Amino acid sequence: MALKRVCCMFYFIAFLWWSQWNGVFAYGAECRAATTSSRRRQLLERVSQVTASTFLLNQPSFALSPEEAEKAYDTYASTYNDLDGGQAASALGIETARAMLISQARGDVLEIGAGTGLNLDKYAADRITSLTLVDISPGMLREAEAKLAEAKILKSVPVKFIQADATSDLVRRFGTQSFDTVVDTFSLCVFGNEGTKRSLNEMRQVVKSTGRVLLLENSRSTNPLLGLYQDGTANVAAAVGGKGCVYNQDVGRLILESGMKIMKEEDYAVGLFRSYVCEARST
Ligand SMILES: C[S@@+](CC[C@H](N)C(=O)[O-])C[C@H]1O[C@@H](n2cnc3c(N)ncnc32)[C@H](O)[C@@H]1O
Repeated sequence: MALKRVCCMFYFIAFLWWSQWNGVFAYGAECRAATTSSRRRQLLERVSQVTASTFLLNQPSFALSPEEAEKAYDTYASTYNDLDGGQAASALGIETARAMLISQARGDVLEIGAGTGLNLDKYAADRITSLTLVDISPGMLREAEAKLAEAKILKSVPVKFIQADATSDLVRRFGTQSFDTVVDTFSLCVFGNEGTKRSLNEMRQVVKSTGRVLLLENSRSTNPLLGLYQDGTANVAAAVGGKGCVYNQDVGRLILESGMKIMKEEDYAVGLFRSYVCEARST
């Protein structure tokens, strides 16, 4: 019992650091990069609107539009690896969770919201035949391209980098039943619930009926106190430094509503993160 409490406290502190304090630095960078006073005013307005809607109007779900995400993530790109791929992420078990999930990818693989390529070294090169990385932010994709070149990994695999909106543009670009595996890690929380529904619908169509959708996502904790903390802070944290990520999403429900079947689900860090192995068909 005491050990469980210590673990919860440890995860809470690591989670705060990973999801919020490091994000506050990113928010600071965004404000510093806002060279015009009107851009600074826009950032301040965003924070005050979200704070008001959370505490006064009790409105759920802050979300970044694809256009906002493109601008914001271009700003975060150069520091993203240190913050989101750093020691707090390892302490939370995120590196292990990534490795366990991504090593299951097979055949032709599509990774959406691929970011700076934190998953690139987790793919089993001898099991994948191609890798297509999609992101809305050219800045994030440039970091991923640099990582691939520097790390000298996946040499034998053709890799493509494509700027596209994963909430609306996958079927149009790639056609239905085009990939053996579709991957996403930590992007659904940025799309908001409506964007997530659209993106899951796109993923369900571009994956082959024999294929798998592999997801590793932020989720509401199984610990009731942590869950309440997440509910109370999710919108504000997303706006102030959380890089638009609303971290209390009910991803399991959204997957089932999309018509996909969850074959395997795993909890990490008292349920602050969950991985899902899904099949496109629910029957
Ligand atoms: C929290 S980051 C996750 C990055 C990476 N998957 C990881 O695990 O570190 C969210 C990513 O989603 C991308 N993104 C946001 N909205 C998007 C959209 N509508 N379509 C495609 N990518 C999007 C962002 O640019 C960013 O790279």
